[in-house]
This record gives sequence, structure tokens and C-alpha cells, in this order.
Amino acid sequence: MMGAFDPMLNVSRFDIGRLKALRRFMEADRRMKEGVRETARVVCVASGKGGTGKSILASNLAAARAATGEKVLLVDFDAGLANAHLLLGLAPAHDMGDVLAGKVGVRQALVEGPGGLHLLSGGVGRPALANPTRRELDRLFKALLPLEDDYDLIVVDHGAGMSYGTVTHLAATSTLILVTNPEITALSDAYALYKRAKMVNSSLRVGLVVNRAHSEHEAESAWERFQAVSQRFLGTQPEWIGWVPYDDAVRSSVHHRRPVTLAAPDSASARALKAVSRWAPIDMARTSRPFYERARKALR
Ligand SMILES: Nc1ncnc2c1ncn2[C@@H]1O[C@H](COP(=O)(O)OP(=O)(O)OP(=O)(O)O)[C@@H](O)[C@H]1O
Ligand SMILES: [Mg+2]
Repeated sequence: MMGAFDPMLNVSRFDIGRLKALRRFMEADRRMKEGVRETARVVCVASGKGGTGKSILASNLAAARAATGEKVLLVDFDAGLANAHLLLGLAPAHDMGDVLAGKVGVRQALVEGPGGLHLLSGGVGRPALANPTRRELDRLFKALLPLEDDYDLIVVDHGAGMSYGTVTHLAATSTLILVTNPEITALSDAYALYKRAKMVNSSLRVGLVVNRAHSEHEAESAWERFQAVSQRFLGTQPEWIGWVPYDDAVRSSVHHRRPVTLAAPDSASARALKAVSRWAPIDMARTSRPFYERARKALR
């Protein structure tokens, strides 16, 4: 009888495993030689409440990843009230509104920023963009789709709350970074967003960052509260990414329009933000089909 300890069986299992690994390696090698790139990984950055630090986190994440040699695109999806360009010291000639209006192609609307990252600005003072219709979103996603071939990583910075556009992103993405502050109001809004995100996308991977905490203790007790409520009402919880201290270096970086991870890399906030940028799921944030294709589908 062939048992679990049958040496032949073990040898052949071992060989099959090796053969599979070898095949995967050869496939990856062939794709590399042919210049076939995988489409971009996509990470969304959102919160419930306004002003929690989403744009600070998204711009620093994009800059820190770009500084390591990745091709990174930051999409400022706080459409109509965009400010990522201010945090990066850029003055884009075009934005999402121009793409939507068909004035320029999407690649023409991009600007290069710190560390070589690219930014698609969301446009300032464009009420039409702040509340795009389903048809407008579909046009926008269709326009953005080819960019997935150009980048390793796309970071999407969202506006506060749960706009139709944000919820569509949450339905399509594999990975979300939820940014909260330790205050109960921010925690409660972040929980509402988390709940909604899990409703529209049960397999979504969510990580939580507590920003602007005054101590580790404050950050930890915020996390414990969030965790307890999530477990109690949803039977699940996000992953803990970490916390970012309240730091005057962040305020100064906003003033000087340069991400704190580049302007003051040794400050406490920069070190914490760099740790956030190394969150392992960012390296796996891929969907089986292109993200913007999924987003278009989620609109239907
Ligand atoms: N860790 C921090 N330490 C000190 N100040 C901070 C920190 N994080 C954010 N801030 C301050 O909070 C302000 C708001 O941050 P940010 O613009 O990133 O919030 P947001 O969540 O993107 O806001 P909105 O909801 O309006 O998009 C920043 O301009 C900065 O002054
Ligand atoms: Mg913002």
C-alpha cells in the first residue's frame, strides 16, 4: 500500500513542487525578457472624517515608494477640492477635469513630482468634479485604465466621506489604508467607512493608521477601541499598520510644500510614515483584472 511515508510518493511530490516552482520562474523570466509588465498595484487611502491626514499619508507613501525606485502614480481623487499638488509643491497645468472634458489625454495631464512620482491632480474649485455622475466616472475610469500599464503602484487619495466615487473605488480595490485620528469622532467615521467598504467588497484588505496621536498609549487605545467595535458588530477587523505622531515637522512640510519623508527624513513622523509605506500588503495590492476595469464594472 502507498502510505504517507512512501519514499516514491514523497520524491514525486517533491519533484512536482520543484517543477512547478521552476515553471513559475521560467514564466516570470520570459515575461521579463519580453518586457511584459504586470499592471499596477492599487492602494486607496480614505477615512470617514475630513482632515485626518489622508493627503499627508498618500503623498508621503507615494514619495517614499518612488524614492525606492518604483514607478508611482498618485491620483488625487478628492476631485474638485484637490490639494495633493500643494503638498508636493507642484502647479499642474492640467487636472482630472481637463481629462474628463476631453481637453487633454490623461498622460498629458500628469506632472512629475518629488522622487520622480507622477501626479494626476484632482482639480480645484470645480463643483462638477466634486460630485461626478455615473457616466462621468465611467469616462474617467476608462481614461485612466491605460495608466495601469505604466506604473508599479497607483496610490489613490480620497476626499472625506463616502461619495459615490469613493465607494466605487472601494468595491474595486484589493487594498485600503484607513486613516483616523485618536478622537472618538474620527474613529466613529472611520468605522462607518470600514463597514461600508466591507459591505461592498468583503475580500478587501484594510489596514488602519492612527495619525496625529500624542503618544503611543493614545494610539493604542484608539486602535483597541476600533478593534473591539469592529469585532463586536462585524466579526472582523482591519490590520494594524501603525501610528504617526503629531509632529510639527508635518506642519512645516506643508508650509514648505515638500513631503516630510523627504524634507525631514529623520523626524518622528517621517520615520512612522516610511514604516507605513513598507506595509507588506502594498506589495501584493493586485486584483485579478485591471483595477479601473473593475471600477467600471462596479458602476453598473
Ligand atoms: N502627523 C501630523 N502631525 C501634525 N499635523 C498633521 C499631521 N498629519 C496631518 N497634519 C495636519 O493636518 C492637516 C490636514 O491633513 P491632510 O490634508 O492630510 O488631511 P486630509 O485627511 O487629507 O483632509 P481632507 O479630508 O480635507 O482631504 C495638514 O495640513 C497638517 O497640517
Ligand atoms: Mg485630503
